[in-house]
Amino acid sequence: MARLFTFPLLALWTCLSMSTALTPDQIANGNRNMTVGYILYPGFTILDVFGPLQFLNDLSYTFPITLSLIATSLSPVTSRPPNHHLPDGSTMDMSHAFDLHLLPTHTFTTAPPLDILIVPGGAGDLSLIEHADRSIESFIASRFNSTSYILSVCSGAGFLARAGVLDGRRATATKSVWAGIVKYGPKTEWVASARWVRDGDGKVWTSSGVTAGMDMMVAFLREVYGEEKVNGVVNGAEYVPHTDSRWDPFSVLFKVPGADMNMSLTETVGPLPSFPEE
Ligand SMILES: *[C@@H]1O[C@H](CO)[C@@H](O)[C@H](O)[C@H]1NC(C)=O
Ligand SMILES: *[C@@H]1O[C@H](CO)[C@@H](O)[C@H](O)[C@H]1NC(C)=O
Ligand SMILES: *[C@@H]1O[C@H](CO)[C@@H](O)[C@H](O)[C@H]1NC(C)=O
Repeated sequence: MARLFTFPLLALWTCLSMSTALTPDQIANGNRNMTVGYILYPGFTILDVFGPLQFLNDLSYTFPITLSLIATSLSPVTSRPPNHHLPDGSTMDMSHAFDLHLLPTHTFTTAPPLDILIVPGGAGDLSLIEHADRSIESFIASRFNSTSYILSVCSGAGFLARAGVLDGRRATATKSVWAGIVKYGPKTEWVASARWVRDGDGKVWTSSGVTAGMDMMVAFLREVYGEEKVNGVVNGAEYVPHTDSRWDPFSVLFKVPGADMNMSLTETVGPLPSFPEE
């Protein structure tokens, strides 16, 4: 008889403990003053910044996390991309685009030590490239060794590649302008079908386009802080994340060479499990 009861109790205990147990690293991270730095430049993509930032913000109610917004100067940074030329030579007149401003807290020379460095994508990257402005790449290269984690969203992977920090690593980027990004990382193992990629040692995380940054951030935060608190924040935001990093219908939509054509746009996901209140 004892055996009959022991098994289900053991299974229940295992299930509960697996869903809530934190690793020593996650406990340490929860007590660590985590400094987060976002790089800003004219023409950043709004959601590349604010999507992942929402979850970080909500976790900062619980964990010691400080935020720095870092740019070339302390002047407000606009989301409107400067007018620029496309690779085919045509001029992009952006003067009608929205002009939302963010106020940097630091410059590339005054930024504090950073545990987490986040590089958003945005059409403004084309203007920086056109004017041979490598200040973001220089900052990334100078800070790479001292950060614990570096994350890019969308075309932000291009800055990482040009900074040389993706050499010999696995990475992904937005599928909408795939060829325009991967050319900057000839020594990178680009993953054609990936919502996001966590490189081997977990230091470098790169996501596909815009909204994919939110799914990457959810996966990243669950690894860093554990599922319980992070799932609570994600469910509180009523956000349904893609939790399979291989889910990437946009690699099919945008005909990325080497895309896993088996992934379909109709594939669905469900909400994350929730945990009882403590
Ligand atoms: C955390 O680090 C930031 C940046 O170095 C610093 O400004 C802040 O005072 C620190 N907070 C705590 C609680 O130590
Ligand atoms: C980062 O570390 C590597 C390997 O130790 C070293 O070669 C490189 O010079 C370091 N970069 C910086 C900017 O300190
Ligand atoms: C796609 O599915 C087919 C049939 O299940 C399988 O043989 C093939 O390996 C899959 N391709 C990829 C890239 O996963």
